[in-house]
Amino acid sequence: MCGIVGYIGPKEAAPLLLNGLKRLEYRGYDSAGIAVLHDGRIQVRRKAGKLSVLAELVQQAPPRGTVGIGHTRWATHGEPTDYNAHPHTNPQGTLAVVHNGIVENFLALREELAEEGVEFRSDTDTEVIVHLIDRFLAAGHPFEEAVRQALKLIEGSNAVVVLYAREPDKLVTARLGNAGGIVIGYGEDEMFVASDLPALLEHTRQVTFLEPGQMAVVTQHAVQLYDLEGRPLPVQVTTVPWDPASAEKGPYRHFMLKEIHEQPAALQATMAGRVNFRTGEITFTHLNLDPDFVQRLKKIHMTACGTAYHTTLVGKVLVERLARIPVETMIASEFRYADPIVDEDMVVLAVSQSGETADTLAAMYEGKQRGATLWAIVNVIGSQAMRIADGYISMQVGPEISVASTKAYTAPLVDLYMLAVQLAYLRGRISAQERWELVQPLQRLPGWVEQVLAQEEAIQQAARKYMKMTNTLYLGRGIHMATAYEGALKLKEISYIHAEGYPAGEMKHGPIALLDEDMPVVAIVPRDPWYEKMISQVEQAKARGAPVIAVATQGDERIAALADEVFWIPDVPWMLSPVVAVVPLQLFAYHIAALRGLDVDQPRNLAKSVTVE
Ligand code: AGP
Repeated sequence: MCGIVGYIGPKEAAPLLLNGLKRLEYRGYDSAGIAVLHDGRIQVRRKAGKLSVLAELVQQAPPRGTVGIGHTRWATHGEPTDYNAHPHTNPQGTLAVVHNGIVENFLALREELAEEGVEFRSDTDTEVIVHLIDRFLAAGHPFEEAVRQALKLIEGSNAVVVLYAREPDKLVTARLGNAGGIVIGYGEDEMFVASDLPALLEHTRQVTFLEPGQMAVVTQHAVQLYDLEGRPLPVQVTTVPWDPASAEKGPYRHFMLKEIHEQPAALQATMAGRVNFRTGEITFTHLNLDPDFVQRLKKIHMTACGTAYHTTLVGKVLVERLARIPVETMIASEFRYADPIVDEDMVVLAVSQSGETADTLAAMYEGKQRGATLWAIVNVIGSQAMRIADGYISMQVGPEISVASTKAYTAPLVDLYMLAVQLAYLRGRISAQERWELVQPLQRLPGWVEQVLAQEEAIQQAARKYMKMTNTLYLGRGIHMATAYEGALKLKEISYIHAEGYPAGEMKHGPIALLDEDMPVVAIVPRDPWYEKMISQVEQAKARGAPVIAVATQGDERIAALADEVFWIPDVPWMLSPVVAVVPLQLFAYHIAALRGLDVDQPRNLAKSVTVE
């Protein structure tokens, strides 16, 4: 949930660490800090608040040195104060630690250490790691060994980078469980450590991902890898394909706006190399769609969190309609506690932008344990979800930096559509000709999204009109229930306006009591199999005085006459319409938040990847 970085090389570390943290600020922004080592002395600068506050502090008193670590925090244990900010140090100031994750047995360890006379200077669980390492150093263990022994005592999913004044030529980093990743970047004469790729991309694309239970000793020129028993492991170096410019904001005011506008290209990218539009063939290189297995497939359990979960609601409709394979969707945080009925003729399919969401990973492990085949649709290359899955579809949309997910919503919708079509074909539900027909509209999808983006000004006008609302209800039916949920989530997470996504048919069973002229209704009413039903729900809302903002198919005069505002979408096949219909809602939420002067890319209390349960 936090962002961690490390640097060792010939250059001044502080600016590089700050720059790395800037790229990881989406992971947490309650406080930030760096520790830089020079002449056997560790200098720490840390501060509550956003990274800009730390940057000012560093400018006033720059710590010199060419090796260091840094951290941007999303608070779990202890409030976001200066004294809880990382890095944490031992009393002598010879050891500094940055940490991501939760030490689950921290209370017991803290009590044990306190009984030994350790005085704690923060409320964090991280500090116990520092004192444990310190204890092993004091007992005469070499640095790496002390870190290793300390890590063996802590429970939970954690990642750390450790700096030790007496061994200035190395950083020690480790990963336990699924708490975020650790990726080591190979520069020229210099090495980088980070919890995520965006911090490294401008320096290198040659990286090593740490697996859970691995520890690395990083020097200026080399990496040595060990397991937690201290046994050496082979080092695997991967070249990541992401373009460094993809982690830059460019001319856009916010990453969210940039990522909304990137969607036509992102959709193209997610289809690239997968659909042969001439023959209709669909290929997923990393998903072994064995026809025998597909034939006997009894069920697919789709699981994910937040926005990614909403993609599974669309996925269910697509797979059930096309392939006639039963699909169950479950929020990942519920999955492993639900005693799910899973066996070896089933698939557990997880969707995750980061591939590091703790709840999603836990659901995947649960599925694995019960014998299911694991599939994943993931964006971050090398992420844990990608690695533990038996097969995966990479979204291929480049880094998504804004906390509010946009292109990592629409791209997996396309992946799920392609998957549903291919499963239908392999199950013999559709012919090669029908498959060809179903994939053809995909070619036009990026252009359809462009058409919606071209209405941004009108959507911004509407945002100006509704920016002061305090409550709103998003209604959709069938495949667009997910659009309603997703539209509402976008609005609430970045504008802090209370927004409820609701199945439109359920409105009359309760929420209709809320409606009046102060409660706008956002109705998703494209021309699809649920159209007539949605129209009557819009009429019911109007009859109660609620202003109606509709997402509707271009040229629909009934809706034009009924609604107060219409966001038009082109006439697209209904199974692909969720990709197009969500775009005006992303823009609507974005402009409301921007007009309210809010921090769109880093909404309060949130973080991009939630690596805690
Ligand atoms: C949505 O805008 C949020 N960023 C959030 O709901 C997110 O989709 C969820 O936390 C899951 O993240 P993942 O896709 O990285 O697993």
